[in-house]
Amino acid sequence: MGIAEVHPFAKSIIMEAGERIRHSFSEKWKIETKADANDLVTNIDRETELFFIKKIKEFDASFKIFGEEGMGEKIDSLDGVVWIVDPIDGTMNFIRQHRNFAISIGVYVDGIGKLGYVYDVMRNQLYYGIDGQGAFMNEVPLKLLKPISLEKSIIGMNAIWVTPNKKIEHEPMTDLIRRIRGTRSYGSASLEIASVACGRMDAYISLRLSPWDIAGGAIIAKEVGAITSSLKNESINLSNQDTFIVANPGIHQEIIENYIKLK
Ligand code: IPD
Ligand code: CA
Ligand code: CA
Repeated sequence: MGIAEVHPFAKSIIMEAGERIRHSFSEKWKIETKADANDLVTNIDRETELFFIKKIKEFDASFKIFGEEGMGEKIDSLDGVVWIVDPIDGTMNFIRQHRNFAISIGVYVDGIGKLGYVYDVMRNQLYYGIDGQGAFMNEVPLKLLKPISLEKSIIGMNAIWVTPNKKIEHEPMTDLIRRIRGTRSYGSASLEIASVACGRMDAYISLRLSPWDIAGGAIIAKEVGAITSSLKNESINLSNQDTFIVANPGIHQEIIENYIKLK
């Protein structure tokens, strides 16, 4: 089966899942904590992941599914067709703000990103990228990014990294912030990556993301010429948590070389 046949199917189940999530606002959710008190999950996260697993397996039982809530099978390699799924990226926003969260899905074939989706559920905006065929938002092509300077850049990051912390030297980050036009923090990694792909933001930096946070967005970003890597300038890691940057091609190297000093 070619990727051309998978794409309309992927779009249709993402739109259906989005409709189910919007409908869930009329229900009472069950909210639990995971790794810590700020790491929240709801029954809607889990039900949405299960919905994707059921639909994807019905479509092709050989497809593997690697989802945040762990309801798919355990994956020990990216061989074959692997769907990397975050059913709700930005659960805190989902619970507290009722907006600013997304469904994030990447479809990889033998480790190569083929189809990437980020669906902003409440704005009804579907960003997607098809390997070698460009990126789109609600079917409108996204433009290739033109290199930008740091002085004109808006960068997404968590404010914690400009305070003393265990992961990164905060002084160079402060220097970076003084040099750029401004910072933003939206609380949904996939939507922040989509914002960089659209040129609404020029970079997004995180000290710890999981494969499902970046799998969809990275494919969209690549199609518009944004550069993704770890903060050590290595290829992104789709097996484990890692640092992450997606940036306009004009500023990626400069940020990593001059401002990122990992501890
Ligand atoms: C989180 C969001 C958040 C990022 C966290 C992620 P979740 O995903 O993308 O913006 O800072 O690292 O874990 O838990 O809401 O799916
Ligand atoms: Ca996530
Ligand atoms: Ca999630």
